[in-house]
Amino acid sequence: VSALDLTESERRMREESDDALTDRVVKSFAGASSPRERAVLESLVRHLHGFIREATLTDDEWRAGIDFLTRTGHTTNECRQEFILLSDILGASMLTVRVNQTEDPAATDSTVFGPFYLSASPGIELGDALAQGAPGRPLFVRGTVCGPSGEPISGARLEVWGADEEGLYDVQHEGQRVANRGHLFADDSGNFTFWSIHPVAYSIPADGPVGELLRSAERSPMRPAHLHFVVSARGWRTLVTHLFVAGDRYLGSDAEFGVVDSLVVPFVEHPATEPPPGRHVDGPWSSVAYDFVLAPSADGLETAFGKLPTPL
Ligand SMILES: [Fe+2]
Repeated sequence: VSALDLTESERRMREESDDALTDRVVKSFAGASSPRERAVLESLVRHLHGFIREATLTDDEWRAGIDFLTRTGHTTNECRQEFILLSDILGASMLTVRVNQTEDPAATDSTVFGPFYLSASPGIELGDALAQGAPGRPLFVRGTVCGPSGEPISGARLEVWGADEEGLYDVQHEGQRVANRGHLFADDSGNFTFWSIHPVAYSIPADGPVGELLRSAERSPMRPAHLHFVVSARGWRTLVTHLFVAGDRYLGSDAEFGVVDSLVVPFVEHPATEPPPGRHVDGPWSSVAYDFVLAPSADGLETAFGKLPTPL
């Protein structure tokens, strides 16, 4: 037996014992509370071990990873969700959206949830404004909520949030201000109208560990201009999506990989001389129209996102 063969056989033995370790860890979760939980944990362990093996992760790299995650946790608070941001810039959020996408071809596409949702938002009436003093060009939004055959979804709930003209969400400003976010309900014919703020492209928060990671890879922190929506109604799959502003220069390089062509729509700019519908506005304004199409939910109840995550 040559030295080379011995090394080879040693290497194989070592691999076998690494595999045995992975199997032992998988088996340790055999008592998980449901078959689904067991399957998810098994997959997590196998892929995590596979990652460590494939990258031949060093002790220093393991320590740097632990330090990174620790700082990500310390950066997260009730107004800032650095873990969602991390998931977003790794494409993990968008991949989760994609593997859960409805197969109904007529339904509106989903995209990432993002880190700036708040579970408690003010309710507004149809035609009212969300801005609450947040600066920016007024944006008139109108559309319908319907099913795949065009059937109106009466009373559908729309949760809306967006950044101001500085590219910041209310939660990123000092103080407890709630602005340019809220919820409203479509009328009996599924129609809705409201006022928001013309979205601008913005940088995701870059002063934490996620920003550090982007800089080290020379990646842009910019997201193309968009407005966030969660559209829900009993009996229909909850839709988490954005409308993106057509023509934005960052559509091809979204830091969160969230752009879907079907969600890129014209936001029409109107001069001050053109009177807007149902409200006096000083200066120029914009408008966008979009019809959201929900897919029926399999069990007739709202899907998991109907119960939105507990307060961030
Ligand atoms: Fe956003």
